[in-house]
Amino acid sequence: APKPVSLKGDEDDDAVIAAGKAKVTIFYGTQTGTAEGFAKALAEEIKARYEKAAVKVVDLDDYAVDDEQYEEKLKKETLAFFMVATYGDGEPTDNAARFYKWFTEGNEREPWLQQLIYGVFGLGNRQYEHFNKIAKVLDEQLSEQGAKRLIEVGLGDDDQCIEDDFTAWRELLWPELDQLLRDEDDENTASTPYTAAIPEYRVVIHDPAVMHIEDNYSNRANGNASCDIQHPCRVNVAVQRELHKPESDRSCIHLEFDISGTGIIYETGDHVGVYADNCIETVEEAARLLGQPLNLLFSIHTDNEDGTSLGSSLPPPFAGPCTLRSALARYADLLNPPRKASLIALAAHATEPSEAERLKFLSSPQGKDEYSQWVVGSQRSLLEVMAEFPSAKPPLGVFFAAVAPRLQPRYYSISSSPRFVPHRVHVTCALVYGPTPTGRIHKGVCSTWMKNAVPLEKSNDCSWAPIFIRQSNFKLPADPSVPVIMVGPGTGLAPFRGFLQERMVLREDGAELGPSLLFFGCRNRRMDFIYEDELNNFVEQGALSELIVAFSREGPQKEYVQHKMMDKAAYFWSLISKGGYLYVCGDAKGMARDVHRTLHTIVQEQESVDSSKAESMVKKLQMEGRYLRDVW
Ligand code: 2AM
Repeated sequence: APKPVSLKGDEDDDAVIAAGKAKVTIFYGTQTGTAEGFAKALAEEIKARYEKAAVKVVDLDDYAVDDEQYEEKLKKETLAFFMVATYGDGEPTDNAARFYKWFTEGNEREPWLQQLIYGVFGLGNRQYEHFNKIAKVLDEQLSEQGAKRLIEVGLGDDDQCIEDDFTAWRELLWPELDQLLRDEDDENTASTPYTAAIPEYRVVIHDPAVMHIEDNYSNRANGNASCDIQHPCRVNVAVQRELHKPESDRSCIHLEFDISGTGIIYETGDHVGVYADNCIETVEEAARLLGQPLNLLFSIHTDNEDGTSLGSSLPPPFAGPCTLRSALARYADLLNPPRKASLIALAAHATEPSEAERLKFLSSPQGKDEYSQWVVGSQRSLLEVMAEFPSAKPPLGVFFAAVAPRLQPRYYSISSSPRFVPHRVHVTCALVYGPTPTGRIHKGVCSTWMKNAVPLEKSNDCSWAPIFIRQSNFKLPADPSVPVIMVGPGTGLAPFRGFLQERMVLREDGAELGPSLLFFGCRNRRMDFIYEDELNNFVEQGALSELIVAFSREGPQKEYVQHKMMDKAAYFWSLISKGGYLYVCGDAKGMARDVHRTLHTIVQEQESVDSSKAESMVKKLQMEGRYLRDVW
């Protein structure tokens, strides 16, 4: 039988050594919580397997307050694992950014980590150009800086089943760790299968007659005026309107958040993170599947009644008491395909044996193909899966801990400039709406919320959301006379609308503006030419020198932004050669990749150089920060 998981909390170094234990530190760089979940699962399994391991799970940001402390503390680590995700354009997650910059930019130093044995597992997606870049670089750097690699870097691919990649990597890890951590008397030999405990919150049901309901969102940005992912700030929707023209059968929403009086500050080019609610039909369906009333008032806790901890693998509970209605709306990811861990938790609570069997099979190594087809390939949502297994009605403590992941904020490139609209954050959001292979209509959580949002200009009972700002390096050049070229089809236009608003203000303030080109692309002038009047106005007012639009579905042939770039190759390159900046925003998998290739071709032709020379010139532009991408 598997050994019960030790739920002891952190132990400090001296105590660890005094107890003859081996310190193991598991760092994570997480954006949506997957890497954090993996780090905690790894910790639990190491604790269960090795009596002498004293394991700590550490958020890379919380580890040290500055570079010096990173250095000091890392020198004392002897066995460490790094679970790190790669995001956006090959970037680290927000919580790993500071560490990553310090660690990888200090690569001139002599090997100084000889005492450290390490392993890296990366979370990425093969659809993207910089697949697992952060994990690969970190792994290389650790080795270069003297640390000893215990196991090959694991390259998790979220395009397939990342949990399987993680499992496979752990299977390679155990024989190595056995050498380091196994005690003679460890009864749990490698041949004993380990079963992770299913995490569970303690649930308290409250009497609605005596409780007042907590509203846990502040409407002031915390302290230093910049709120963050853990401390979002509640703001009203001031304006909401459709950007597509009546002929379009799709939808794109312009939304304005009112940030006056909140202390929120942002810069042109930053991102806004938005916590949107699930829509009411989704919430009602979830409550029905759980067999619980929507108005049930409850709270969740990570400690037992006697105050002892229930385990470290649980994310901090959401604020309560709250109704099941708001818990499902705000905190539960109900529409993504469930991970295998969710299926295992459902299986444990399926009262119908055949359902439990099938759920177990789907999450097992034998059921791999079935899982990838029936769940991932068919984009079956968690709710769709639950509907297929009606006997599986997990208690709320299990549901929120192990079945439904936390609903994540969605990020948008802000489409305004604070200098132009001081008290507003504008968002330009395409509605995600369409059929899945099972015939379900998938409605994106946040875009649907924005589509249905009621603005203050229409009702005092307006919509609101918790938001926060994420800084970016997607910024106009400090000198406004430097040429800028912007490439942003579809909602990739968003940050450039902010840029152009900023240039309007600069011009009004008397600045001498350098030449600017905007390449915009859409399907058809009569349907999805968003902000058409505003863009023309930017040209008239001199904030934009030239607006170049590619219509992909007007003529017999597809016209894309990169075709328009080619048409203007000579002028395009002359601006960049003069020290100009190139910005690309939008879809990473198709558009940004193709635009990148076109840039390469332009350099090659205009400079009459071979492909590898062109490549190094493009690299140089990137290094100098003159070729910036904001892609998703
Ligand atoms: P399409 O949908 O007609 O193919 C905004 O989404 C615009 O970007 C649309 O006109 C879309 O065209 C276009 N687009 C799609 N794929 C693209 C790519 N790989 N490169 C450039 N533009 C693309």
